[in-house]
Amino acid sequence: MDIKVTTRLPSATENTYQVVFLFADGKLGGAARKIDAESHGLIKSLLQSGDFTAAVGKVYPIHYVAASLTSWVLLVGLGNRKHVDARAWRIASLAAAKKLCTVNAAVAITDCLNWVKIDSLSPAEMARQWACDLVSATHVFDLHPGIKDRAYPVLSECVLSIDKKSHEAVSQAVRRGLATGNGIALARDLGNLAPNLCTPEYLSKKARAMAESCEQLTTTIVDEAEMEELGMGAMLAVSQGSRQPAQLIVMNYQGKSRAGSPIALVGKGVTFDTGGISIKPSESMDEMKYDMCGAAGVFGAMQAITELKLELNVIGIVAAAENMPDGNAVRPGDVIISMSGQSIEILNTDAEGRLVLCDALTYSKQFKPSTVIDLATLTGACVIALGDVASAVMGNHEDTINALVSAGEQSGDRCWPLPIWDDYQKQLDSNFADMANMGGRPAGAITAGCFLSRFAEDYDWVHLDIAGTAWTKGATKGATGRPVSLLMQYLFNRL
Ligand code: BES
Ligand code: MN
Ligand code: ZN
Repeated sequence: MDIKVTTRLPSATENTYQVVFLFADGKLGGAARKIDAESHGLIKSLLQSGDFTAAVGKVYPIHYVAASLTSWVLLVGLGNRKHVDARAWRIASLAAAKKLCTVNAAVAITDCLNWVKIDSLSPAEMARQWACDLVSATHVFDLHPGIKDRAYPVLSECVLSIDKKSHEAVSQAVRRGLATGNGIALARDLGNLAPNLCTPEYLSKKARAMAESCEQLTTTIVDEAEMEELGMGAMLAVSQGSRQPAQLIVMNYQGKSRAGSPIALVGKGVTFDTGGISIKPSESMDEMKYDMCGAAGVFGAMQAITELKLELNVIGIVAAAENMPDGNAVRPGDVIISMSGQSIEILNTDAEGRLVLCDALTYSKQFKPSTVIDLATLTGACVIALGDVASAVMGNHEDTINALVSAGEQSGDRCWPLPIWDDYQKQLDSNFADMANMGGRPAGAITAGCFLSRFAEDYDWVHLDIAGTAWTKGATKGATGRPVSLLMQYLFNRL
């Protein structure tokens, strides 16, 4: 996607759509007024007849001939002028981007930023969303062979006109929006990729390739032999039933002088979760290919960070393993020793995410991180608590939790806190080890957070449970790319 930011609106050519955002009250702004006049009142009559209501996210493509030139226009509703907010803008922006793909627009031009005034949003913030949605809407998953007649949108260019005063801010926002969109696309691709292809070693290869194309990024892989040496008994316990060797992937991005302590992003990368010996029911088990969406989020964020060359030091750590039942698999009742030295009684081999993460959290200590954020499709209980609307956030550092909640609000990729009070810790008591790997059904998302907290005491740490938000079911089944947008917003706010 190529987005040009200019101070002059170019003239339309074939397959070029003017995108015009409208409120439902029928009062037309600059661009809409001009088009309405040229087309002998077409917009007004569409609004009056109710064919187009300008409700939030409603779209309506029109074309008309004026002075023997055909103009293509996409009308996009923003709803009630009084209630318009960031959420309305996001809905309208994505709907417009999607519609441009289905009407085969090649170029989109818009001067919406000159006249749509949304109090809570700056033109730059609107442009960032728009750029991100153009990338999202045009992205096609095509990593699997054999699907015939894949329809690639022809939309490849957008011209954004803006006044001089906002030009620089909008240009920067567009760059950020594009990078975020590309990061989301990468996270979606990795999530959607079949689990026979997206193995721990595949993720390693991806991380090495990313390092090769960016000078400030170095990738190192900890393999199983090295994990033995480091005493990563928890990570190895998950992997021991699989033919696929586990990989701890470390992506080190130096965007700042060596002095700055890094932010660490730690992702759960269970490339397939059968549950192990505590095997899951067959129904929808295919969805457990998405159990590496935390890792996918780390990859997406790292890619966006490197594309933007953000002035931050960030370490991406991915704990990649496959959870399989096998003659050599870990059993319920087994006691293992984590890298931290704490022993764990495995009561349920399906609570494997916290096991790969706990060793990754211990490992991350050596980087002396200022903040550690882990992302994981960790618990079904989180889906019950928050559904597909918000990720759960918990941790030992109130300020970071609050910063993530506001970044979620700003980006539309929301998260909401759950309490990991000490009162919940006793659910992890074990008669045979320092702790059990599960705390029963009550407060399942919280006790998973409590388990992780025991390995994250040496730094400011926050955990995002993305089990409900990382993928969708039904006709639009697929990875969502969340929480890349949330993480990028958090990082932008930290700059
Ligand atoms: N990957 C699952 C969590 C999950 C389940 C995510 C369904 C999205 C949808 C995780 O490894 C798991 O199986 N968790 C168990 C933990 C339990 C055994 C304590 C769960 O949530 O049932
Ligand atoms: Mn599991
Ligand atoms: Zn899992």
